[in-house]
Amino acid sequence: MSQDLPVTRTTLPPFDEYVERLRGIWERGHITNHGPLVLELEARLREKLGVRHLFFVSNGTLALQIALRALELNGEIITTPFSYVATTSSLVWERCTPVFADIERDSLTISPERVAQAITPRTTAVLATHVYGNPCRVDALAALCRERGLKLVYDAAHAFGVSVDGRPIAGFGDISTFSFHATKLFHTVEGGAVATNDDALAHRISYLRNFGHNGQEAFFGLGINGKNCELHAAMGLCLLPRIDALIAERRALHAEYDRRLLANTQLLRKPGPTPGAALNFAYYPVLFRDEVSLLRARTQLNAAGISPRRYFFPPLSQLPYVSRGDSAVAEEISPRVLCLPLFSGLSVDDIARVSDTLLLSLGAA
Ligand SMILES: Cc1ncc(COP(=O)(O)O)c(C=O)c1O
Repeated sequence: MSQDLPVTRTTLPPFDEYVERLRGIWERGHITNHGPLVLELEARLREKLGVRHLFFVSNGTLALQIALRALELNGEIITTPFSYVATTSSLVWERCTPVFADIERDSLTISPERVAQAITPRTTAVLATHVYGNPCRVDALAALCRERGLKLVYDAAHAFGVSVDGRPIAGFGDISTFSFHATKLFHTVEGGAVATNDDALAHRISYLRNFGHNGQEAFFGLGINGKNCELHAAMGLCLLPRIDALIAERRALHAEYDRRLLANTQLLRKPGPTPGAALNFAYYPVLFRDEVSLLRARTQLNAAGISPRRYFFPPLSQLPYVSRGDSAVAEEISPRVLCLPLFSGLSVDDIARVSDTLLLSLGAA
């Protein structure tokens, strides 16, 4: 009997290695509040992600909320209809109004031209997502935001370790945010980060995530509890040295899926990467010709014990608390996208099983 295959499986370090990290925490008795492991992880992440300031926070959603607060954003924020719900919900939670600008058909990232068309006198910023780790057209967005006096925030939750023409992803925009959730390529079980190269913004972020504290008895201003803790940092420190190997493994798994699936280009297509990007191969999304074939494939995959995920579905323009805006391409593509199982330890045989079942459902095996 073959094993069930989920869309993803959390990467865990060797148990003893994690326990060794825990032993140190027990010995020191310093569990949270900017302990040595949190500080070490932040320093290593700054180096790995090539960014001047990085703050380890409780999750990727709070990272977005802190970014919006740090930039004191309000009014209309132009954003993508094709991302995880947290990209839009964090805007609404912070009492900003999301205005959708549609995505590009290849990379599935927000179109800078559509952003330009969506700008009004109430627009204060752009919040864009590097979808599946495919970078947005960062230079076009930077030029547009500079010219129109808008702030630029990137949701880089999928883009750990990605770069564009050798420039690390974390350095683009005023602020980039990351999710280190257990489903992500690099994770700390729960966690996230706010990254910036701007010193003044970094100061604001540092106190925003720590109740606004300026020492024990004074306050810089309003803040929230966005800290993370030693136990989560320990997981990150165990995984970080493995990240290049994990990316290399996923690159090979991608190539195997490509080899088995993409000859059938009439029925199935993979979203294209942005030119110049060095990717992290975190997800394997495929685009079906129509939703009916996607649903048929999913039924047959599920029957074979394989659980792909519709990600992202529905498009964010269909959330019950937003206006639809400019989202026709996202609404047309979202019902046709399925992410196939991809995680460390997935075998070539597993990929054969997923691919054969999928192609059979399309009548193409
Ligand atoms: C694109 C995107 N943004 C934001 C988030 C939110 O991150 P978290 O789950 O760490 O709050 C996620 C992941 O869950 C995501 O995929």
